[in-house]
Amino acid sequence: MTLIKNTFSALVWTSSALAQKCPVALEGRIPAGSTPATFDITASPFDSKNVKGQNLTFAEIIQLPTNLSASLFDTNNTIPLLLTLSGQSIFAPSADNIQTGFRRCELLPATNNGTDASTLGQKIIHFSVMKDDTKPLNTTHGYQMVFLESADFSTNQIVVKTGTISGLEGKVAQGETLVVEGNINTDAGVIFEAAFSGGGVWHNFGLVMDFDANTTQVLYSQNSVSLAAVTQPVANDISGQGQYHFGLLKKPSGDNITDVTKEGFQPSGINEGVFYGGLFVEEGAGGCLSLSA
Ligand SMILES: *[C@@H]1O[C@H](CO)[C@@H](O)[C@H](O)[C@H]1NC(C)=O
Ligand SMILES: *[C@@H]1O[C@H](CO)[C@@H](O)[C@H](O)[C@H]1NC(C)=O
Ligand SMILES: *[C@@H]1O[C@H](CO)[C@@H](O)[C@H](O)[C@H]1NC(C)=O
Ligand SMILES: *[C@@H]1O[C@H](CO)[C@@H](O)[C@H](O)[C@H]1NC(C)=O
Ligand SMILES: *[C@@H]1O[C@H](CO)[C@@H](O)[C@H](O)[C@H]1NC(C)=O
Ligand SMILES: *[C@@H]1O[C@H](CO)[C@@H](O)[C@H](O)[C@H]1NC(C)=O
Ligand SMILES: *[C@@H]1O[C@H](CO)[C@@H](O)[C@H](O)[C@H]1NC(C)=O
Repeated sequence: MTLIKNTFSALVWTSSALAQKCPVALEGRIPAGSTPATFDITASPFDSKNVKGQNLTFAEIIQLPTNLSASLFDTNNTIPLLLTLSGQSIFAPSADNIQTGFRRCELLPATNNGTDASTLGQKIIHFSVMKDDTKPLNTTHGYQMVFLESADFSTNQIVVKTGTISGLEGKVAQGETLVVEGNINTDAGVIFEAAFSGGGVWHNFGLVMDFDANTTQVLYSQNSVSLAAVTQPVANDISGQGQYHFGLLKKPSGDNITDVTKEGFQPSGINEGVFYGGLFVEEGAGGCLSLSA
């Protein structure tokens, strides 16, 4: 395991829970027996319409691999998924807003409408990611992999990124790195970074969001190892509620881009993907926190 910065070994919570027993605010773990078509129906744990290429179904975007080890929190008959990007992954939020600058495939928890309680109080964003070595990302580009976007769409209060990250040149190891960045509209900067190793390694995160204190703390581990704190709670403006996005948002390459949603360069013929597992947002009131399933 390579932790590049901010490594704290033994931080203590007042009433932490080792196993997953805190209430779940948003459930995004996929029941075994689901099919890719599950994600296109309203019974999906996620929004069945967003965020994906205008002419794609989630059945075409999502694969449910049977060749992986279980992720840290996928132990109760739930399964990981593969989210893919192709040249068709062009999101069109409206008829006159075609986001040709991006390639996007993201899952939004169904009940997370932007003003619900999942972005209030204390919450822990849980997720695991693994490279699909047969569908590599293009690290010349920047990618968002998990983020909270404010209800007024003015900022991302927390973002997990990889690849070549615009604005962080010289501040983080660019390329094969997982970077947790605070509110992009403030000087919160990089909160944590770790090497994004492949070869079947699960990278497990818990992002502890204290919406009353405006702080974020990062927990991290690999494979079946319990989560451990790798930062203290750091100041981060996480006000503004909004929606959690789990999935890939690929930025364009190119210089002097003024509208990143529509400008820049995107290579054609891409076939990229990342495995996601154990997606849920946990209720952290009273210091409740799960470090393993
Ligand atoms: C596992 O299956 C997925 C498809 O579901 C595939 O993309 C991936 O390459 C496979 N991994 C290995 C190591 O074969
Ligand atoms: C396991 O999943 C079942 C069905 O979703 C649920 O009722 C139960 O509470 C889960 N158990 C744990 C320990 O999460
Ligand atoms: C979706 O398909 C329609 C009809 O073929 C086409 O006009 C449109 O450009 C496509 N949208 C994208 C984002 O490729
Ligand atoms: C969002 O969800 C909350 C909680 O369920 C509800 O009170 C609110 O009315 C919803 N808002 C919209 C715009 O649907
Ligand atoms: C978080 O910080 C922002 C910006 O300073 C502020 O507007 C907001 O009220 C703060 N939230 C809390 C709960 O203090
Ligand atoms: C990666 O992205 C760069 C910049 O857009 C592009 O020139 C290159 O062809 C891409 N590589 C692949 C394998 O798609
Ligand atoms: C980007 O802007 C800089 C500064 O104005 C200029 O020197 C450079 O040539 C521009 N690059 C491109 C590709 O237009």
